[in-house]
Amino acid sequence: MNALAATNRNFKLATRLLGLDSKLEKSLLIPFREIKASSIVLYVYHVECTIPKDDGSLVSYVGFRVQHDNARGPMKGGIRYHPEVDPDEVNALAQLMTWKTAVANIPYGGAKGGIGCDPAELSISELERLTRVFTQKIHDLIGTHIDVPAPDMGTGPQTMAWILDEYSKFHGYSPAVVTGKPIDLGGSLGRDAATGRGVLIGTEALLNEYGKSVSGQRFVIQGFGNVGSWAAQLISEKGGKVVAVSDVTGAIKNSKGIDIPSLLKHSREHKGLKGFDGADPVDPNSILVEDCDVLVPAALGGVINRENANEIKAKFIIEAANHPTDPEADEILKKKGVVILPDIYANSGGVTVSYFEWVQNIQGFMWDEEKVNNELKTYMTKAFKDVKDMCKTHECDLRMGAFTLGVNRVARATILRGWEA
Ligand SMILES: NC(=O)c1ccc[n+]([C@@H]2O[C@H](COP(=O)([O-])OP(=O)(O)OC[C@H]3O[C@@H](n4cnc5c(N)ncnc54)[C@H](O)[C@@H]3O)[C@@H](O)[C@H]2O)c1
Repeated sequence: MNALAATNRNFKLATRLLGLDSKLEKSLLIPFREIKASSIVLYVYHVECTIPKDDGSLVSYVGFRVQHDNARGPMKGGIRYHPEVDPDEVNALAQLMTWKTAVANIPYGGAKGGIGCDPAELSISELERLTRVFTQKIHDLIGTHIDVPAPDMGTGPQTMAWILDEYSKFHGYSPAVVTGKPIDLGGSLGRDAATGRGVLIGTEALLNEYGKSVSGQRFVIQGFGNVGSWAAQLISEKGGKVVAVSDVTGAIKNSKGIDIPSLLKHSREHKGLKGFDGADPVDPNSILVEDCDVLVPAALGGVINRENANEIKAKFIIEAANHPTDPEADEILKKKGVVILPDIYANSGGVTVSYFEWVQNIQGFMWDEEKVNNELKTYMTKAFKDVKDMCKTHECDLRMGAFTLGVNRVARATILRGWEA
């Protein structure tokens, strides 16, 4: 089942639990606006970006943005640069952002977008030209109170800085038009670590329910990028034992616990964890089924599926990545008694601190890192309690608890704003 089908399925299960009107259900599902070449949803925008390459030749890329829902506030979601930007997946991710921002209870809707390009094959100046042309094409569709992009796969703070600059040429200086900016341009302290820190906060809240704490638990983490490496660092600082880690270069294991600060240093110096001498190499395909208490998929979608779900040894899965577990695996794991902390809650720390960045830009006032981290803890702790309350009300698991919470908040806002008018 692809990401869009899985998201739609979870949404429909949630609407059934909530007893939502079928017309409202349809209205909540269809994106508000989808912007891409040769496809019509509500408006058609041909976002074809043609740029001169460094050698003088011209090259065209297709960029698009799916704006899913704005009932609760401006739409919010990343922009990814990837050769296989899959419109269905981006659609699913835009929808997920709507439910995620509602679960976190921050005043946003959901969006996602991207450009079908391979950033590794473009020079810095080509990437800058491409980003500026894309911004020129969509500048009247995004904005501080309309749709606020952020970095995603293949993009980062520098990409956001170019979008800010290009957008500001049309609309005046507008730092709040994007989040995930460099600190010097109004980025928030604590944003880099926020998703990993949110993973830690969510994990602590979940383990507490079972009379356990992070300290003493054995963790396996797939992915050692922004989310995985911060999660590993913060978990190990809290006394959690990280026994296996993988990234695109390979997988390593040490049942006594991996020294995370040394691994971070090695990973920075060697651009990956391959060759780290503080652990033994293992087959990357077996990382998810390694013996542990808590499994943290923090890399790709769809990695936990019917092929490996039965072999998973963890008692808890924290979905740091988006869509790591497909619905068939969900069913298998439920029968095995594995508890899953779903992505729309578990990785919401990033968008929550993006919201703090937007608030700081609008206030024109910078918070210190301690305030950012404290506010993140407050939001994520409250969201966990709200998810648990929905689980009790609807006698459902955490995934449905999170979906019913998010969908219900969006439905209430939609009804209050007068969706049938
Ligand atoms: N960065 C955020 O703030 C944020 C917020 C919410 C959700 N997410 C999700 O978290 C996941 C990771 O995001 P990120 O920002 O850390 O990305 P990243 O690009 O910084 O890191 C991705 C990591 O996954 C590894 N990886 C890639 N292919 C792999 C494979 N086949 N096996 C094992 N590891 C592999 C890479 O080597 C890298 O270590 C994604 O699903 C993303 O959508 C990220």
